[in-house]
Amino acid sequence: MNSYIRTLPYLLLFLFSINLISAQTYAKNGMVVSSNMESSKVGRAILQKGGNAIDAAVATAFSLAVTLPSAGNIGGGGFIVYMDSKGKATTIDFREKAPLAATNDMYLDKEGELIKGINHNTVKAIGVPGTVAGLYLAHRKYGKLPWKDLVQPAIDQATNGFTFNWSLFKAAEYFTKEGNDNRFMDNYFRNENGTVLQPTENWKQPQLANTLSIIREKGKDGFYKGEVAKKIVQWMKENEGIITKKDLKKYEAIERKPMEGSYKGYKIYSMPPPSSGGVALIEMMNLMEQADFKEIEFNSTAYVHLLTEAMRRTFADRAEHLGDPDFNLDMPLEKLISKEFAKQRFNGIDMTKASVSDSTKFGQLYDGESTTHLSVLDKHGNAVSLTYTLEYSYGSKMGSEELGFIFNNEMGDFNPQAGITKSNGQIGTAPNLVAPEKRMLSSMTPTIVAKNDKPYLVIGSPGGRTIINTVFQTVFNVLEYNMPVNKAIEALKIHHQWLPDVIRYEKHLLSPDTKKALENMGHTLEPRENLGALMGITWDDEKKVMTGASDSSRPDGGAAGY
Ligand code: GLY
Repeated sequence: MNSYIRTLPYLLLFLFSINLISAQTYAKNGMVVSSNMESSKVGRAILQKGGNAIDAAVATAFSLAVTLPSAGNIGGGGFIVYMDSKGKATTIDFREKAPLAATNDMYLDKEGELIKGINHNTVKAIGVPGTVAGLYLAHRKYGKLPWKDLVQPAIDQATNGFTFNWSLFKAAEYFTKEGNDNRFMDNYFRNENGTVLQPTENWKQPQLANTLSIIREKGKDGFYKGEVAKKIVQWMKENEGIITKKDLKKYEAIERKPMEGSYKGYKIYSMPPPSSGGVALIEMMNLMEQADFKEIEFNSTAYVHLLTEAMRRTFADRAEHLGDPDFNLDMPLEKLISKEFAKQRFNGIDMTKASVSDSTKFGQLYDGESTTHLSVLDKHGNAVSLTYTLEYSYGSKMGSEELGFIFNNEMGDFNPQAGITKSNGQIGTAPNLVAPEKRMLSSMTPTIVAKNDKPYLVIGSPGGRTIINTVFQTVFNVLEYNMPVNKAIEALKIHHQWLPDVIRYEKHLLSPDTKKALENMGHTLEPRENLGALMGITWDDEKKVMTGASDSSRPDGGAAGY
């Protein structure tokens, strides 16, 4: 019997290798999970070459800029949460910044009204990109292999091409259809002969390869100074953009102390402001700790109600208090993540009826779609949780043809109109108003949960404000309901964000009876095809096995282990 137990992990490894188990991947030495399997393999190859988790994450992120241009990027920004094998955690903030010329009324007309769409769909939506600076800083501080080796695989993919997949083809169809007048995006998905790429064709991106080659040679300066910076500024001048040479030169990624919380003995490390993710995740986990889950079954009416009420309160706090920490020195972060505050918040929840979100107070507007997450665990036990974004799918849908990458439209994450908070979710609170060089508030929630001071769960998701809630529910499924990581990822997700006062739910996962019961309690429900695309890894310290799982909502994603 004992020998059977000892051989079990190897049996599982074998079963996976012959594809009898496809939903999760087991590994002993290293694991990379991302939204594109080709990029996960790039990260795995770096681990196999002797690179550590940071090296693999940097290489995977550059690779995703080639294989997943809807979200993978060098024209956007994001966050890394890193924990070393000794349990020491840190974070790298490479969030985009508002340009020096930005003002807090830049999206308003003469009457002070918000010009619809201006903060998301115009050149003024582009923030100063942070990705290259962030990956460079992470590598300089914690990487092992030479920088050039980490950028090279992405250059190879862009130069030699890779298989144009179905998701890319769907985007190509959209951007090249009659009546779409975005010339940059129309050209983006065409091959050398000018014809629209088809699924399974080989896609080469020579201009992007060239930009990446400069970054390989010159590091951070390859993007923020010299030839690439000059072309960015030139493009901005030609297109009425406001990012200048000085904006690029001044951009710095920042190492910050993680938000730290706990749940029933597990430690939770996540991203501090300018992301709201870590604060909100910890606040909700603290609220959950107040409840008795022996009495509350997964997916029951009480479960959905309690989660909703926790989300409602947390998102109200998020809207009221959070923004760029360099501009908001007095954010009550310690209070928001304290167990005492959670107790007060929990006591206000009525388990028989829905609370009402007050539309004169707090909430938020739109969920950005295009963000992506990758998780890495190496053989030494170092873990990386990296989420980065362009905001919308394909960001601003603008870019320089010479440079071959897409700019973000992240300025849309700022509160656009001071003092105006509406029931549709538009927020006007001060901490997240536009100001020169300020970082816009994010919801990205790259997270590492530690057990006995070792990485236990590495997790994150794309999805705008839904990120916070999908990561929260996945962490909760693993820690409270002991679900394996793949089940935790695939299980029902709901989303409530204070305003609008609606529970969005994954439509096939909530039963008609539960929906009826929730409506009777006063909740409004709205189905969604899908919430989140989680990429996660767990570490079993007893069996010494890593388990990786990628959300089935990203069919091109995958876990690559060895
Ligand atoms: N753009 C999505 C986020 O940062 O939350």
